[in-house]
Amino acid sequence: MEPEAFRSAAHEVVDLMADYLAGVERYPVLPDLEPGTLRGRFPASAPEQPEPLARILSDYSAQVEPNVTHWQHPGFFAYFPTTGSGPGILGEMLMATLVANAMLWRTSPIATELEEVTVGWLRQAIGLPEDFEGLYTDTASTSSLIALGAARGAATGWTATTRGLAEQPALRLYASDEAHSSIEKAAMTLGLGRDGLRRVAVNDRFEMQPAQLQAAIDADRAAGEQPFAVVATIGTTGSTSVDPVGQIARICRQEKLWLHVDAAYAGATAILPEMRAPFAGWEQADSIVINPHKWLFTPLDCSLLLSRRMEDLRAAFSLVPEYLRTLDRDRPVRDFNEYTPQLGRRFRALKMWFLLRYFGLEGLRRRIRFHLELAAALCGWIDAEQEAERLAPTPFSTVCFRWRPRRFAGRETEAAASAELDDLNQALLERVNRSGEVFLSHTRLSGRFTLRVAIGNLRTERRHVERAWALIREAGRTLDREGVTVGEGVTIGEGATTSGAEGPP
Ligand SMILES: Cc1ncc(COP(=O)(O)O)c(C=O)c1O
Repeated sequence: MEPEAFRSAAHEVVDLMADYLAGVERYPVLPDLEPGTLRGRFPASAPEQPEPLARILSDYSAQVEPNVTHWQHPGFFAYFPTTGSGPGILGEMLMATLVANAMLWRTSPIATELEEVTVGWLRQAIGLPEDFEGLYTDTASTSSLIALGAARGAATGWTATTRGLAEQPALRLYASDEAHSSIEKAAMTLGLGRDGLRRVAVNDRFEMQPAQLQAAIDADRAAGEQPFAVVATIGTTGSTSVDPVGQIARICRQEKLWLHVDAAYAGATAILPEMRAPFAGWEQADSIVINPHKWLFTPLDCSLLLSRRMEDLRAAFSLVPEYLRTLDRDRPVRDFNEYTPQLGRRFRALKMWFLLRYFGLEGLRRRIRFHLELAAALCGWIDAEQEAERLAPTPFSTVCFRWRPRRFAGRETEAAASAELDDLNQALLERVNRSGEVFLSHTRLSGRFTLRVAIGNLRTERRHVERAWALIREAGRTLDREGVTVGEGVTIGEGATTSGAEGPP
């Protein structure tokens, strides 16, 4: 592409981007599609002849933009939100332009050094001591895999990285029942097998029970197995519960186990001085993961892995063939590929540098505080509603609850009532999501189908949360009145009388 053609096309693309962001609310958050309906709209093979850019852009507008799930929509309350902020997107554009591969210092000095600088800024902002250093990866799944790979290597005196695991006693990793599936995947990937991950029971607040952790470690040692690491989660995926990191750290110290803290979602709140309590003890961790692409308004992807044992990460993953041996190696440069399984690395520091400067820490704090306030408001509305109940504490901005019509009061332990409530809430979720105005997701807590509203999108205003709540109430009442059709057309529920609308939320 000639430079001038690129310039004018890029201007057009920027217009598309700005129009999309300004008008994202005109789309339903979830496109109304059946699986497989899109493939057929595209040719079966790649074009032999070049096509004009104008046609590609017009197909983009017709076929692509309307058919994504709109993560940038202010009504996106599912999973954990990921917002691409303006400065983050601008940083991404320049990253794509430079194609700077941050694998070696030599392959892009500024990419490596700006990574060191911005990782240091973030470390300070979340209040961790200077002995934590770190790097960016694509996802928390990769960050945890790397940390646990280092833990495995260190625990085996590095035989895991040389001779493999065949001569090792069975290695055991510990995380709560509520820990993210990425930890189990790490166990699968690192050769421990899924059984190598010991799931530790949680209490009624969904927090890991340290006594159960200690008991599991003792039992494994007695059986001749080798405990090597514990994952504590600050902000679990289902309920955002907080494991007691300080007590877990004490056990890890006594037992000489690597402590990895998964704060992929909630870690961003540590930039708020008043939100530090849930993080007490995390400074004793060996490694910590936080995802800027969850709640720091960074376009996917960016995960921050911090560790006070960078040399162990390096020992686990460093392999320097001749063609990567640069002449700088005798100087104090950091070649980040030596700390990760992959070689090529994106220049993620560029978008972090844009974003941290554009918002400033105070700007980021203000926005996160606003999300916490919105979540607190939603909790208040739910608590005031006799036909809804929260199913978990809300330490951050994700609210877990269900609709529970009055006729169920006191019947929660009856199996039939609890199945009916599950069906009702599943139908409610589907109905609310079909509105196109919001997208909520669900989880199961103590076996109960649980609705989740996760607030963290940069564009979400109070009116969006109010609207979500109005839709939920309306759907809850209508479904209870009309009955829910489940499975093979069986209708359950009764024409229960429900209170009418009680004014604004
Ligand atoms: C607590 C926690 N850890 C890890 C992950 C995985 O994140 P990623 O998609 O960046 O791998 C998630 C995703 O939601 C999460 O909630």
